[in-house]
Amino acid sequence: MRPPIGLVVLAITVVVLGGRVEAAETATPSVKVLVAYHSTTGNTEKMAEAVGEGVKSVPGTRVVLKRVGLVTADDLFSSDAVVVGSPVYWSNMAGEVKTFFDNWQLKFGVFPEFKMRNKVGAAFATGGQIASGKEVTMLTILAAMLGNQMIVVSGGGAFGASATTEGESPGIDQNELAAARALGRRVAEVTAVVKRGMAR
Ligand SMILES: Cc1cc2nc3c(=O)[nH]c(=O)nc-3n(C[C@H](O)[C@H](O)[C@H](O)COP(=O)(O)O)c2cc1C
Repeated sequence: MRPPIGLVVLAITVVVLGGRVEAAETATPSVKVLVAYHSTTGNTEKMAEAVGEGVKSVPGTRVVLKRVGLVTADDLFSSDAVVVGSPVYWSNMAGEVKTFFDNWQLKFGVFPEFKMRNKVGAAFATGGQIASGKEVTMLTILAAMLGNQMIVVSGGGAFGASATTEGESPGIDQNELAAARALGRRVAEVTAVVKRGMAR
């Protein structure tokens, strides 16, 4: 005996819709990550590129790599996550990076709406010496993000990824690049989770 045609259509619809719901819940949402950095002699730029590689290792992600002075309002607001990198200058972030953060308000007007709210943020740094300001630099970057009610994450190290570039440890080595990639990957993974949660 053949089932009524209405029942067959209903069954097919349920299967198709059921499949769609499952696909929507399991798919990685598209994630856009801005990696913004300052670099005078190329060390921080190498770390920025490795952060970008780490982001791209997660399916469904897009990376925009830019020097802080070239970041536009659209770059900032269309990104789901922002990773900021700086060389250590006098035990803190470089003036160019501080100006970048100041411009979030002065040029881009993030307040009073908290336009960066709930975007994911992370930091990386390079410094000439082993213990002369890399962690302070990353923490002050994260502090600016916290002030903007962003969701800050670490990776590659306790406060982000960092590299020592002078003296006994000139340039950027493979371990430091691996830490930068790990940071980029973690940012992309956490951002996907946050985005998926917000879509519910
Ligand atoms: C003005 C200035 C100040 C610096 N101050 C520090 C410092 O306090 N601590 C440190 O570890 N390195 C310091 N450095 C070294 C840089 O942080 C280091 O060379 C960094 O890797 C440069 O990054 P870049 O190649 O991306 O420009 C300083 C360099 C400059 C030019």
